[in-house]
Amino acid sequence: MPNDIERGAASDPVEPPRGPSVTSDTAGLDRIDLALFRKVMGSFPTGVTVITTQAGGAPRGMTANAFMSGSLDPPLCVVCVAKRAHMHGYLLQTGRFGVNVLAHDQEVYAGHFAGRPVAGLAPAFKTMHCVPLLVGSVASMASEVAARHDCGDHTIFVGHILFMECAERVPLVYHRGGFGALMQIIDREEVPVPEFW
Ligand SMILES: Cc1cc2nc3c(=O)[nH]c(=O)nc-3n(C[C@H](O)[C@H](O)[C@H](O)COP(=O)(O)O)c2cc1C
Repeated sequence: MPNDIERGAASDPVEPPRGPSVTSDTAGLDRIDLALFRKVMGSFPTGVTVITTQAGGAPRGMTANAFMSGSLDPPLCVVCVAKRAHMHGYLLQTGRFGVNVLAHDQEVYAGHFAGRPVAGLAPAFKTMHCVPLLVGSVASMASEVAARHDCGDHTIFVGHILFMECAERVPLVYHRGGFGALMQIIDREEVPVPEFW
């Protein structure tokens, strides 16, 4: 299947220069090193989503990479939202949220919905099941909150998916505080999603 991004050998990653590794035995510590915690968690490359909901008569959005698939049957997705974030209160209030997987050319939204609003930027939304969804995303889903779980200074929201869609677009990637796009992709026809998943 042809791709709109450069294809290369999966065994040919670009290695950054090797620096010293950092370790921290956190057991028994009152306070952990927050910078190291962020670096460790940021070592896991992710896509970037914008969680959306309709609150106070307007669409609201928050950039999040703590997103994952939950269950296949019933169809559930999972996001983790800081208790101090405005979105936390909105989700408690509305009980519905959208997850929008950003495309590589939507990087401006990642900052816009993470507390660094871009003047004059007016993202286009469409509404499904009373949930605003970002137009132009790689994938979007609208869901109803099915469960909430405490997670320290965050809450895990489980959403029952009411609507979903995806498009053949290149996703935005987040790793250790920086944004990028996939340089190499393995053809989906060669690597089918296992049926048990
Ligand atoms: C790439 C990226 C990923 C983020 N992931 C999350 C996340 O999963 N959960 C979360 O609560 N905040 C996350 N944030 C931080 C929020 O987007 C940010 O704190 C936002 O400003 C909170 O909204 P508020 O300022 O309107 O309260 C992320 C930020 C970025 C840039």
